[in-house]
Order: sequence, then C-alpha cells, then structure tokens
Amino acid sequence: MQDDELAGTLLAPAKVNLALHVTGRRADGYHLLETLVVFPRAIADRIEIEPADRDLLTVTGEFREGVPTDRGNIVLKALDLCRAQAGELGIGVPPLSITLEKNLPHGAGIGGGSADAAALLSHLARLDPALGERLASLSAGLGADVPMCMAGSPQVARGIGDELEPVALSAGFGILLVNPRRPVPTPAVFKALVNRSNTPLPAMPPKGFGTTEALLNWLKATRNDLQETAVSIEGAIAEAIGAIEREDALLARMSGSGATVFGLFETPEIARDRAERLRASRPDWWIRAA
Ligand code: C5P
Repeated sequence: MQDDELAGTLLAPAKVNLALHVTGRRADGYHLLETLVVFPRAIADRIEIEPADRDLLTVTGEFREGVPTDRGNIVLKALDLCRAQAGELGIGVPPLSITLEKNLPHGAGIGGGSADAAALLSHLARLDPALGERLASLSAGLGADVPMCMAGSPQVARGIGDELEPVALSAGFGILLVNPRRPVPTPAVFKALVNRSNTPLPAMPPKGFGTTEALLNWLKATRNDLQETAVSIEGAIAEAIGAIEREDALLARMSGSGATVFGLFETPEIARDRAERLRASRPDWWIRAA
C-alpha cells in the first residue's frame, strides 16, 4: 500500500461477548477469560483518514463527549505504536488527520476505544506484511480487547482475551443492543468480582455453528461471569435485560463488563422490529439492531 492509499473510511464495529467466562487471574492482576465474540458491522464507529501536514484527531458523533483528542486517545497511541514499528522496518507512516465518529457508547462493554484502535491498526497493517505481524502481536499492549477487534470476525478468545481462535458462525441471527446510557468502568467490575475461578466454556462443535439453534443450545450452557457483579454496580443493566426478555429474545445477556446488553433473535428483521418497539417505550436508552 502506498502513502496516498492510506486515505479512507474505516468501520470499527461493536464487539459483543456472547459468552464470557472468567477462569482465573494472573499475577499481574489481569483476569483469564474464555469468551465468544462477534462484531455486528452495522453497529460501528467510523474513522475517516487523510494524509495531512501533522497528526490531528477530531472526535465527532453522538458519544464524542469525554473522548480525549490528545495523544492520550488510544487511536493516537495505536498510530504511535505503528509508526515506531514501521520505523524499525524502514517504513514511513505520514502524518494523518483522523476523524473519529463515536456512534457507540464508551465504557459500555462493546469495545469502545479498543475497536477504534484495532480498526486503525488493521488498516495500517496493510502497509507491509511484516508490520502487520508486529502490530497483531503488540496490539494487546494497548488493551486486552484490541487483538480480537483486529480479527473482526467471530472468535473464541482465551488468555486475557488475546489468544484467538476463529469460529465458523454461519447462522443468520438478529442481534439487538441496548445501553441504558450509564457508563460502567471495566476495572471496577473486575475488582468487585467474587468468583474468579469459574468453569471454562463448554466444547464447541468442531465445524462451528451452522444454525441459530445450534448456537443457542451452546450459549444456554454458558454465562457472562461479570454480569452479576456489574448489575450490583449498575442496576439499569438488569432493567435492560428484563426489557429485552419481554421482547421474547432467544437469549438476553450483558456484553463484556456492561452496561450494554444484547438480545438474540431468529432474524435481523425481528431484532429491528423489537428495537423500534423498545425505542418507543425507552427513548432514554441507546438501542440498535443488526
Ligand atoms: O486491557 P484494558 O485496558 O482494556 O483493560 C481495562 C481493565 O480491565 C484492566 O486494567 C483490568 O483491570 C481489567 N481487565 C482484567 N482482565 C482482562 C481484561 C481487563 O482484569 N482480561
């Protein structure tokens, strides 16, 4: 890829943990997880990139408030990481103007800044295969969720979330995301956990999930081990789960450390229909379907 081909629009889809088991804790305090993640592409932040005279980050969109525009933003940290690695390989990364459209709530258990950083890293990785390999292996340093977001396709993640295994998931189910617009800080949830040594995920069908029914049967034997603790910190999570259950979801559960909750439905059409109904009764919630 040439410098002028760096320009473009990237999507940073939400990360949804369909199941998340906490199986242990490392000496450094990070938790060992087993999680199945999916990335609904229609629910995403957008990142506009243009070569410029100097690096510039502009944040727009519904959830721009509170997002730093200085080098503390994880997107610029990702750019710095990439430039340092590229430099070692003799590759130049020109200054970039980056416009980040925050459509997804942050502190919400659906990737947030990790998704944005991952989208930029995946894009810059195309400059050079050796650079791509380095970025994939160093990306966890930016955040435990960055590697899975770089993969961008259904994965089982283990370790602290950075050991990835792709999962075939051809079922065409619908997904509804509801966020009660209350941020829940991830470290607070992990810190308040009572049980840190739970059972691993059940074995997966070797060929993945061909039908929604197969996926659902497997999911019913799984959990989100952060959910109970997150609900004790933010009661609105339980309210959102209850509301999705009343829409006859096949499954309603929290994603990540919350507060976003997802509902699974047979088809995207049903999910969109239920999203509209929920929006009418809860205009104060963030509600999306895909
Ligand atoms: O890696 P990231 O910065 O996204 O993680 C935020 C916080 O969540 C960490 O500081 C840690 O407290 C907690 N965490 C954890 N175990 C993980 C991932 C995150 O304890 N596997």
